[in-house]
Amino acid sequence: MLSGPVPGQISSRNLRTEAESQKAGLTISQILGIGCDILDVDRMVRELAKEDSGFRDAVFTRPEIEYCERKRSPVEHYASRFAAREAVIKALGGVPDKDFSWLDIEIGVDEDGAPFMELRGSMKDLADERGVATIHCSLSHTATMAMAYVILEA
Ligand SMILES: CC(C)(COP(=O)(O)OP(=O)(O)OC[C@H]1O[C@@H](n2cnc3c(N)ncnc32)[C@H](O)[C@@H]1OP(=O)(O)O)[C@@H](O)C(=O)NCCC(=O)NCCS
Repeated sequence: MLSGPVPGQISSRNLRTEAESQKAGLTISQILGIGCDILDVDRMVRELAKEDSGFRDAVFTRPEIEYCERKRSPVEHYASRFAAREAVIKALGGVPDKDFSWLDIEIGVDEDGAPFMELRGSMKDLADERGVATIHCSLSHTATMAMAYVILEA
């Protein structure tokens, strides 16, 4: 049986009040959207293997390609970056009406190895329209599956 809120403990069923958050020095912000995506790494193997399709250069930016190609199993890293693209599209509620380019979504990596997402072009315009100020992004992958979560914050 589900129990009620537990004092002093935070969970999805036991959120802080605004007053408690302010006391803790936290700012209340608004989640505008979330998105997740999972894909078979094999699907990415097949897409990347299609010579002359231009898939890799049409989807991934040069810094992403350089990052993935340095890895022992590049395809896993490509796959999670593709999942991140689909996840942010879900979080935003779709793609821009025109001029959509996969290259307008880029996953960078900070000094700790944590991923961050940058939008440009019409994807950035769409995010701006929705009031997105911060994009949170998390990736995970194995030899067979890759996934990503994206949270959009106002
Ligand atoms: C960062 C860490 C959690 C990644 O977990 P993992 O299971 O090895 O790898 P996953 O496939 O789930 O995730 C890989 C992604 O994590 C992300 N990542 C890497 N470092 C990160 C960090 N410091 N913060 C957030 N995300 C990070 C990257 O996006 C990476 O994908 P990429 O290589 O394509 O850029 C892990 O390396 C780590 O440091 N764990 C700490 C505990 C530990 O040392 N465990 C060892 C085994 S017991």
